[in-house]
Amino acid sequence: MGVVVDDFDPAVDEDVQLLKKTVYREKIVVLKRQQHDPASFLELGRRLGTPEAYYEPIYHHPDVPEVFVSANADDDGRRIGVPKTGRFWHSDYQFMARPFDITLIYPRVVPSTNRGTLFIDLARAYDLLSPALRQAVAATTAVHSVRRFFKIRPEDVYRPIGEVLAEVDARTPPVRRPTVFTHPQTGERVLYLSEGFTEAIEDADGAPRPDLLTELLTATGQLDATFTHPAIHLQTFDVGDLLIWDNRSLVHRAVHSDTPEPAVSWRVTVHEPIGG
Ligand SMILES: [Fe+2]
Repeated sequence: MGVVVDDFDPAVDEDVQLLKKTVYREKIVVLKRQQHDPASFLELGRRLGTPEAYYEPIYHHPDVPEVFVSANADDDGRRIGVPKTGRFWHSDYQFMARPFDITLIYPRVVPSTNRGTLFIDLARAYDLLSPALRQAVAATTAVHSVRRFFKIRPEDVYRPIGEVLAEVDARTPPVRRPTVFTHPQTGERVLYLSEGFTEAIEDADGAPRPDLLTELLTATGQLDATFTHPAIHLQTFDVGDLLIWDNRSLVHRAVHSDTPEPAVSWRVTVHEPIGG
């Protein structure tokens, strides 16, 4: 899984068209030696779809709100972005009615160790399920919520936790989707669930199936604390690399250094036209 691309030029239409096809075919594309400021990074996202600013403003880049900032260090005493983001299996905006189609990540400060992002291809994982498990999942619905990973904001300090949770539930109520869906671009059947955001699986009558959820998370490698499950792919990167992936068929998980080294990355997420 994944392909490395040299000499990609975001100004060349053919390169952009080929990039889009390649993202869906290879799932992950690493563009080497990219040079972007927040505005030109957003512009590249615009060439792949419709970028959307993250619903929580604490993540926004101060100059370009559509650029989401993950940063574990202050910038001269000023906090920009949010530390330790995405340290759990998920796909971006899985808890929203409309998840993103493509994610672009542009690492800006890269630690010397423990760098990279872990990925699992849930289209391939679906193909590898036992026939019994594939049958068991067929008519089920998965329930997704941000509840467990919503990050407490500076302004939440001293607020009662129940009030914060009630606000989370009102703004981002749980979403229900078929546990298996057909990818609109590739036609693949994809398991749509993650350890971080999927709260429950319900059978056709709406009864919860915690046993099935655990079985599926185990089979796909998402409960492997050693990260040695054969489905797990580690994608490493250097400064200058720009990663682009198919957010509908992959779950990912950030690798964070336990050393106090700074790490900063920018993210743009885009929607394809509906039905596109
Ligand atoms: Fe993410």
